Amino acid sequence: MSKKIIITIDGWSACGKSTLAKQMAKKLGYVYIDSGAMYRAITLYFLRNHTDWTDKSAVKDALKQVHLHFEFTEKSQQSEIILNDENVEYVIRDLVIAEKVSEVATIADVRKFAVKQQQRMGSQKGIVMDGRDIGTTVFPDAELKIFMTADIPVRVERRFKEMFEKNPNITIEEVKSNLEMRDYIDSNREVSPLRRADDAVLLDNTDVTMEQQLSFALKLVKEKRAAMAMQDA
Ligand code: DC
Repeated sequence: MSKKIIITIDGWSACGKSTLAKQMAKKLGYVYIDSGAMYRAITLYFLRNHTDWTDKSAVKDALKQVHLHFEFTEKSQQSEIILNDENVEYVIRDLVIAEKVSEVATIADVRKFAVKQQQRMGSQKGIVMDGRDIGTTVFPDAELKIFMTADIPVRVERRFKEMFEKNPNITIEEVKSNLEMRDYIDSNREVSPLRRADDAVLLDNTDVTMEQQLSFALKLVKEKRAAMAMQDA
């Protein structure tokens, strides 16, 4: 059996990172971890508990009360995020959270808290993790790194369709301004900003089908495994 590896998928908001990551994990029999869900769940906790996240000690105290883990759910056939015993996988997708999460994710103590847990989740390898800093900060030595991008109108339309199903009052303008704002904050923050790692393979899926991108990514895995087997021989 081939050695298990770590696969990181970073990129801009709504360019299909989680779709690809989930499909790859399923094909390879790996664990899929949505690191963005952790930042979203922390944001949910802060909002519900009126945590003043501009106050360093309030953030430290609040984080002591935040317990996160992922649980595989039969119904969705994927791992879902649990915040203090509550499945929050669906509430964290709301625009209320999307409007604040990038700001919360700039906080150094929040990042330290999330990154430590993400690194622990990858200690056994056999993991596909998507996010913004996975290939640069969380797993800088990952065997395979993918950086995803797509043109903004395509990303807006995809995210709009997804959110409209749950909230028919949402407008395309709201979705567009949220994506642009998050892209800006995520790539300009001081602590581990969104960057393409030097050794990440670029995947622009503007004009690519889901099947094409999956077979492209699986080919990369195959090539990586072959190179590793050569080195071991
Ligand atoms: O992947 P997502 O859209 O659910 O992520 C939500 C936000 O969380 C994103 O705008 C920035 C932040 N995030 C981050 O800073 N680092 C990560 N590894 C993942 C997400």
